[in-house]
Amino acid sequence: MINDKLPYIYYGGDYNPDQWPEEVWQEDMRMFKLAGINIVTLPVFSWAKLQPSEDSYDFEWLDKIIDTVAKEGIFLCLATSTAAQPAWMSRLYPEVLPVDVDGRKRTHGSRVNFCPNSSVYRMFSKRLATRLAERYGNHPSLLIWHIGNEYGPHCYCDTCASAFRTWLQNKYGSLEVVNRVWNMSFWSHTVYEWEEIVLPTNLNGNNKCFQGIALDYKRFMSDSILACYQGEYDTIKAITPNIKITTNIWGLFNGLDLKKWADRMDVVSWDSYPQMNEPMSNVAMRHDYMRGLKDGQPFMLMEQTPSQQNWQPYNSLKRPGVMRLWSYQAIAHGADTVMFFQLRRSVGACEKYHGALIAHAGHEHTRVFKECTQLGQELHALEDTLLDSVTESKVALLFDIDTWNAVEMTSGPNVDLDYLKQAQKYYKAFYDLNVSIDVISPLSDFSKYELVIAPVMYMMKPGVSERLKSFVKQGGTFVTSFFSGIVNENDLVTLGGYPGELRDLLGIWVEEIDALQPEMTNTIIMHSPFGKLRGEYECGLLCDLLHLEGAEALGVYGRDFYAGMPAVTLNKFGLGEAFYVATDPDPKFLEEFSQTLCERLNLRPAHQAPYGVEIKSRHKEGRTYTFVLNHNAYETVILLNEGTYKDLLSHRVYEHALVLEPHGVAILEDLDL
Ligand code: GLA
Ligand code: ZN
Repeated sequence: MINDKLPYIYYGGDYNPDQWPEEVWQEDMRMFKLAGINIVTLPVFSWAKLQPSEDSYDFEWLDKIIDTVAKEGIFLCLATSTAAQPAWMSRLYPEVLPVDVDGRKRTHGSRVNFCPNSSVYRMFSKRLATRLAERYGNHPSLLIWHIGNEYGPHCYCDTCASAFRTWLQNKYGSLEVVNRVWNMSFWSHTVYEWEEIVLPTNLNGNNKCFQGIALDYKRFMSDSILACYQGEYDTIKAITPNIKITTNIWGLFNGLDLKKWADRMDVVSWDSYPQMNEPMSNVAMRHDYMRGLKDGQPFMLMEQTPSQQNWQPYNSLKRPGVMRLWSYQAIAHGADTVMFFQLRRSVGACEKYHGALIAHAGHEHTRVFKECTQLGQELHALEDTLLDSVTESKVALLFDIDTWNAVEMTSGPNVDLDYLKQAQKYYKAFYDLNVSIDVISPLSDFSKYELVIAPVMYMMKPGVSERLKSFVKQGGTFVTSFFSGIVNENDLVTLGGYPGELRDLLGIWVEEIDALQPEMTNTIIMHSPFGKLRGEYECGLLCDLLHLEGAEALGVYGRDFYAGMPAVTLNKFGLGEAFYVATDPDPKFLEEFSQTLCERLNLRPAHQAPYGVEIKSRHKEGRTYTFVLNHNAYETVILLNEGTYKDLLSHRVYEHALVLEPHGVAILEDLDL
């Protein structure tokens, strides 16, 4: 449980009192209390203030602010402040500064601007974390540790190069293996000494010539950065074994092996910054991905903006009700905290136009403050009702960072192929049906699901195809799409015909892969109706030219020299079924395909809702709490399944139907259960 010491949904966020004179602090406290804030995250970026020089520390101001906050009954998410090193460190130890992918040595400034293999950075960051843990570890208001901030950027300096060679020696043992797994005989790249291994920078023209090197470098960077986090984690854990530790994940991105990272966190936390016009399914998918990182355990929404960002090209305001709606959406998907960046808007530098609880006007008479206050009151009233409740899904979408990187780095077959977008499309098809989905790694256990979807399962990691086969053999349904089963984890092609290890499971052989020009399309023609699928659909991007080896064709291509070749196949395998979608179909196909699969597997949403209304349930102690989220900017009617339901927010009881205002939310407890 995240919230063991404070059995409420944590509500608060990043607070930067060190940017303000002390007189302002009292005013902050008054307003935090008004808004129902119960946790503040600090000091996230205060290293320079905490350690003015190499051998002097200053914690007095932090003692004072911690006392001030604690006196008000507000709790602490205590940050280690190590995401931006002080200028003296970069000046005295220039090796701390990183080198970018173009080979340029960076100058001091910005943040997360350090070489993760710098022993100086690691030593100083660990030392600061130790000091903080010793000083504040027993503070009664301390709820959780927050290490660093949004780790991510990679470094290409000489220190990293030599650490990479050591990492490779540990991983592969000999140069012979390295030459083989990277296929170094290509373009005369065979190396005979470890020192001959160079980093995948752009200095030799193209950092993506050798996907094997580039993939390993990404893995190595993830491990190197993780070692920085781990150094702080270990020292803090030794001093405060009972306090949970996290670091805020920047989002669903491919710079870190997030699954591996999550294994080292006590609690997953992440920062959610949707674009105004982004499909809500993308946001839902990111939450589900974060929940999946720790096998369904609740996570922390560590940051979101109360109103707008500053770093997007167009920083639209969240419309009235949207901040509240998106907060409940996060909770619906497994968040047990609702936290903001930031509590007070800065006066200068690049985040002065980033939304905050307290605006530049400095008082509480603002729309944003009022909305935050309403939410604060509601969350307080929910007490611990929802905490630690879980979601249940029969559908899993497999998503893998290495596969994403490999697809992104591959040269060919189509520059428009985007692994994330493919996953988002399939996710959306089920999201729109309000069928609960887990987003998990192919390395996770998926035996408990009925349907496993893995769009563009390009890379097959060891053991995955065997587990998929036994899943389907025992009655599971598996869906994958074009460009799957092609390579192993080093991006070496599995020889003998595509889709490699998945060939017998899918009962097909893909002979060729056609890439369509952007203006080209093909069609899928269904042989005969299959569930909701019938007639003709558009498709594009890539078209696999395949032969049946046991599967049946449900649909075929309508055009080009491969007209009549299978485009959608179904293979019975043991007690289950494996589907292959050989091309990138239009949304209508995916909509009707997902409906068909849900009907076949009898997967139903909790209630029937019109488009734009999201329904998602959490379960706890035999009770079900169903979130009904109206993402529409208009009033919407939801037909309820038979039963009597109480809305935890309005306390009203509903039967048959529920009418939600624009951007409205209800959390229905089924009273008949
Ligand atoms: C990130 C960071 C915060 C802040 C916000 C602004 O999530 O963690 O420090 O910069 O972005 O959106
Ligand atoms: Zn480096």
